[in-house]
Amino acid sequence: MTNETAFVYRFEPAEGAGAPPLLLLHGTGGDENDLLDLGRMLSPGSALLSPRGRVLENGMPRFFRRLAEGVFDEDDVRRRAIELADFVDETRGRLGIGAPVAVGYSNGANIAAAMMLLRPGTLSGAALLRAMVPLSDPPRADLGGIPVLIASGQMDPIVPSSNSAKLADILLDAGADVTYRTLPVGHQLARADLVLTREWLELAKEQAK
Ligand code: MLT
Repeated sequence: MTNETAFVYRFEPAEGAGAPPLLLLHGTGGDENDLLDLGRMLSPGSALLSPRGRVLENGMPRFFRRLAEGVFDEDDVRRRAIELADFVDETRGRLGIGAPVAVGYSNGANIAAAMMLLRPGTLSGAALLRAMVPLSDPPRADLGGIPVLIASGQMDPIVPSSNSAKLADILLDAGADVTYRTLPVGHQLARADLVLTREWLELAKEQAK
């Protein structure tokens, strides 16, 4: 691995076969430890790969730079999405795991969406919790029917529902199998996310058989 793509990360190997590896991507100010419990609850036995975002905003880790809340530095989004995809590809080769399903929250969901559009094939699916459109002019990608869940919050003060609906359209146009749900919650993760994402993962697992 080169220094350019060196991420701090946690890895938990799979226990048993059949559960897809999860790529856990935290929100702004989080780190590689944040979503491990969620990953274990979502898919017991799955291998868990959880990197820490390499950008610091006032000391808070993120996966790409932003100019203001909800206004992204899109050159940086592109660069960091490719860097993260390189890390995932290299690391999964070394650890012997398959293409993971991303579970991303907020900034982590946004980089997962960017990664799917810029490097289709790195992920085998994605649960995007409180995601926004990461690129105003995304490349044409072929997502070949991979399952994507978008869970937005009805009272989310950061992500307008029109924005997450637009992301759903972009991913649908790119050929993803999109499930779009609005939960009666705000930007924070809630129990409803756990229940919804667990059910969606189960279904995605069945359909992949
Ligand atoms: C982002 O910057 O990716 C989104 O605005 C969400 C956030 O991290 O607060």
